[in-house]
Amino acid sequence: MKKIISVVGARPNFMKAAPLHRAFLKYQDQVQHLICHTGQHYDLNMSKVFFEELELPKPDFYLGIGSGSHAEQTAKIMIEFEKVLLKEKPNLIIVVGDVNSTVACSLVAVKLGIKVAHVEAGLRSFDRTMPEEINRLLTDAISDYLFVTEESGVQNLANEGIDESKVFFVGNCMIDSLINYLPKIEKSDVVSRLNLEAKKYIVVTLHRPSNVDEPSNLKEIFFQFTKLADGYKIVFPIHPRTRKMLEQSGLTDIHKNILLIAPIGYIDFVNLVKNCALTLTDSGGIQEETTYLKIPCLTLRDNTERPITTILGTNKLIGTKYNRIYDEVIFTLQHDQKDSQIPPLWDGGAAERIVEVLMTSLNQTNQ
Ligand code: UD1
Repeated sequence: MKKIISVVGARPNFMKAAPLHRAFLKYQDQVQHLICHTGQHYDLNMSKVFFEELELPKPDFYLGIGSGSHAEQTAKIMIEFEKVLLKEKPNLIIVVGDVNSTVACSLVAVKLGIKVAHVEAGLRSFDRTMPEEINRLLTDAISDYLFVTEESGVQNLANEGIDESKVFFVGNCMIDSLINYLPKIEKSDVVSRLNLEAKKYIVVTLHRPSNVDEPSNLKEIFFQFTKLADGYKIVFPIHPRTRKMLEQSGLTDIHKNILLIAPIGYIDFVNLVKNCALTLTDSGGIQEETTYLKIPCLTLRDNTERPITTILGTNKLIGTKYNRIYDEVIFTLQHDQKDSQIPPLWDGGAAERIVEVLMTSLNQTNQ
């Protein structure tokens, strides 16, 4: 019997791990698939609700790391995860995405001689000021299996000299979750609960340090939102980091059409996106979800590690000239949507392809 431990830590990890867990159930007689939650995100609405909605079992290991500086968080995860690996001695660990938990756990495993599979490998923003870019580069450099969501990832890994026999273009686990839960998502009544009208509101999510940590940026962003709010309702589920920065910035007089709400669960969030006129975000995953749902997405960043969403999908990078937000939103709303396509292999089968590769390889090498 083989043993595999999948690591999750922060909100965007949960929807990538859930389809993997489901796919491993088919191999229950050959592999024990365990889940380790580092506790990087710990609030009920940043973590537990996703386990429930995505039908993930209670984690087998909970490291309870919580917040801290990058060094503190990464180091604490490493110390606690090493204890788990020394006790459990898995054949392989799986890490997903690009958060601090991803790089911390990969590093621990590789030093203990345990194989690492990275799901969502190869994405590059080429912006090394982003903590996630460092996490991606380092994790990919030491992984044994690199599972890629879009063709740019294959090219980036080749350019970095990573042996192509380790690289598998399999599609997108986040989209696996979206497709799997679409029937449930469609039944959510969140639009009426929030007194919104389909296609008459804008969804906003912002949490990147580069956008929200500087009070003057936040002030300009809210100035632009206030102009938009005369014509559209704006629903903004606020990430704890953004909430904290907003409180510190002294911005209190918020237009009544800007609904600042607590972070919401997966099912309600995707329903909100599916029914909105437009999404404005700095998240990576939402660029992909809007592309799949064919909802216009404006990304408040100068670059994206997910270029396929701008080439084939509905995503447009509008940069960080915050005083352009109003004009960009109005322009997009007033013009016909560009013809978009769903990227190759974003078909709901990525996790199954990943698990097949891993099981075949583990059985062949008999590690
Ligand atoms: C992390 C990831 C980022 C990802 C994002 C999704 C890294 C480097 N960053 O950023 O790539 O897009 O998650 O949300 O791994 N907090 C709470 N409750 C929580 C979690 C966080 O209050 O459950 C607050 C804490 O004050 C914390 C702050 O949010 O200091 C930031 O959390 P952290 O995990 O450091 O990074 P994120 O900004 O969430």
